[in-house]
Amino acid sequence: MDILRRMAEYRSEEESLKWEGTFSEYVELLKERPWVAQSAHSRVYNMIKDAGVKEVNGKRDYLFFRNQLFGLSEPLEKLVEEYFHPAARRLDVKKRILLLMGPVSGGKSTLVTMMKRGMEAYSRTDRGAVYAIKGCPMQEDPLHLIPHALREDFQKEYGIKIEGNLSPLNLMRLEKEFDGQIENVPVERIFFSEDKRVGIGTFSPSDPKSQDIADLTGSLDFSTIAEYGSESDPRAYRFDGELNKANRGMMEFQEMLKCDEKFLWHLLSLTQEGNFKAGRFALISADEMIVAHTNETEYRSFISNRKNEALHSRIIVMPIPYNLQVTQEEKIYEKLIADSDVAGVHIAPHTLRIAAMFTILTRLKEPKRKDIDLIKKMRLYDGEMVEGFNEADVQELKTEYDDEGMNGIDPRYVINRISSTIIRKEVSSINALDVLRSLKEGLDQHASITKDVKESYLGFISLARREFDDMAKKEVQKAFVYSYEESAKTLMDNYLDNVEAYCHKSKLRDPLTGEEMTPDEKLMRSIEEQIGISENAKKAFREEILIRISTYARKGKRFNYQSHDRLREAIQKKLFADLKDVVKITTSSKTPDEQQLKKMNEVIARLIDEHGYNTSSANELLKYVGSLLNR
Ligand SMILES: Nc1ncnc2c1ncn2[C@@H]1O[C@H](COP(=O)(O)OP(=O)(O)OP(=O)(O)O)[C@@H](O)[C@H]1O
Ligand SMILES: [Mg+2]
Repeated sequence: MDILRRMAEYRSEEESLKWEGTFSEYVELLKERPWVAQSAHSRVYNMIKDAGVKEVNGKRDYLFFRNQLFGLSEPLEKLVEEYFHPAARRLDVKKRILLLMGPVSGGKSTLVTMMKRGMEAYSRTDRGAVYAIKGCPMQEDPLHLIPHALREDFQKEYGIKIEGNLSPLNLMRLEKEFDGQIENVPVERIFFSEDKRVGIGTFSPSDPKSQDIADLTGSLDFSTIAEYGSESDPRAYRFDGELNKANRGMMEFQEMLKCDEKFLWHLLSLTQEGNFKAGRFALISADEMIVAHTNETEYRSFISNRKNEALHSRIIVMPIPYNLQVTQEEKIYEKLIADSDVAGVHIAPHTLRIAAMFTILTRLKEPKRKDIDLIKKMRLYDGEMVEGFNEADVQELKTEYDDEGMNGIDPRYVINRISSTIIRKEVSSINALDVLRSLKEGLDQHASITKDVKESYLGFISLARREFDDMAKKEVQKAFVYSYEESAKTLMDNYLDNVEAYCHKSKLRDPLTGEEMTPDEKLMRSIEEQIGISENAKKAFREEILIRISTYARKGKRFNYQSHDRLREAIQKKLFADLKDVVKITTSSKTPDEQQLKKMNEVIARLIDEHGYNTSSANELLKYVGSLLNR
């Protein structure tokens, strides 16, 4: 009963975190742990920073987002550094509503949810601890109790700046319950919880006509007016609007731009002046981060309306585009599949990668540079080495458009197509071809795409298919070689020995007989011809390889067959060319002989053991490659 024990531990941990004391004890506590008085924005920033930052080539990767959001490190870096960080330092951006703008299913809600869950957990840590006036429905900051006249002195002594006024409710309690004795007001540690409505709120507009502002700012409790005698008695008011409840933490504002303007103005005064108006009371101070999200179309129509200009200048918009890296897109699918009820189905190797390639192609914009096609751009974005291009080219490509990633296919669509494939096929495995087929069929039902867009998407499906054909052939051919890496290495070593002798005009020594031999021109050419190196160009190619080897040696790195893209390709093609007929005949024979059957079984076993297939996907792959080679 491990879970029961863990639950008990969790409860006792919760007990041990509790703290309660008087205001004077709280002020003592601040001497040692001044950070607990930080603002909501600062707490959010510190939560993100405390999860760790990895710096690579001057770019910062915030690990807080790592487990759930993939391929968004650049927009997230911008978000942290242009909003969270300056807002934490009380700079002007704090006074604006944060609006995340991005395409559908691009991870906006996921991002906000991560922050909400993160704040809940952070408030249970020492660094993220929060204290409030005990029994206050808005968990008001205890420091609001300090009168304005004394705040400057307090700041000098404690280094803590106090913002905001004591709320009408606590002002009344101070007088009635504590006789104005601030020192005696009870303070407690609080823990953020969306479920319990502490420090985390979510507001989602309903029908604009029936929407009540009370949802945001609370409302009068008519049942208690008689008891307190007046509508302006704060005790007769329920401070239970979303803005009240989210005080000290954050509020998510869903579909903000669909909301009535009236509501938005409330928010603006809150963000701008740090207070809002409720009932018949003086302004109520609140300290919370407001995060809203919207899609691009809605946003465009919002800013094109002149009436919204004033609102617009009080919002800070942060783009959350789609991920543009194939490898990261694969991770998104893996995550979504693991969370779904099709998690047990075998997905053949490359399936998700091919689907991801299609998706990324739909999101990329045609490069303006003539020497790069879309496939190359896709590879470069994914961090692959593409001969002839370097990191500077990648950066240049990224600056060609400033709105890349704002449209294209969304991950949810792909996952839906994958699930429907699984359900329809009713088998225990699916492969890349199944998924491409399903993606293609789905385009007919896809509501929001025009004929032109559909045409181009069909083109991307063919491109992805071609990539798959290539991978499939390579995989099968590799599986035909007893030990591919070994064979490739032997062939390359042999080639390099010959090249060296050729360039140095020396002889080779036969390892067995010790006999001297001239370089094997036929062997060298048979490899070079694979990548179209002409008789005239061979000398330059061989010399270039020797130079590469000595560069490697100087840097203390080992040169292997992966170190030179073109050489690797040549070696691979040579190995495959030697095999081609065997593969072709074996995989496509309708009545395989004993020898062929044995080979097939060997290859299938290797696909299963070394490449992650299962019996049915390995058989499908072999059959498919057989048909490709016979075209
Ligand atoms: N970059 C990403 N990394 C990880 N998961 C992602 C990413 N983009 C989308 N997803 C996943 O896709 C699904 C849809 O994302 P989410 O609901 O967060 O998008 P959204 O931007 O809020 O969409 P909408 O505009 O439809 O509300 C989620 O399950 C999410 O985890
Ligand atoms: Mg959403």
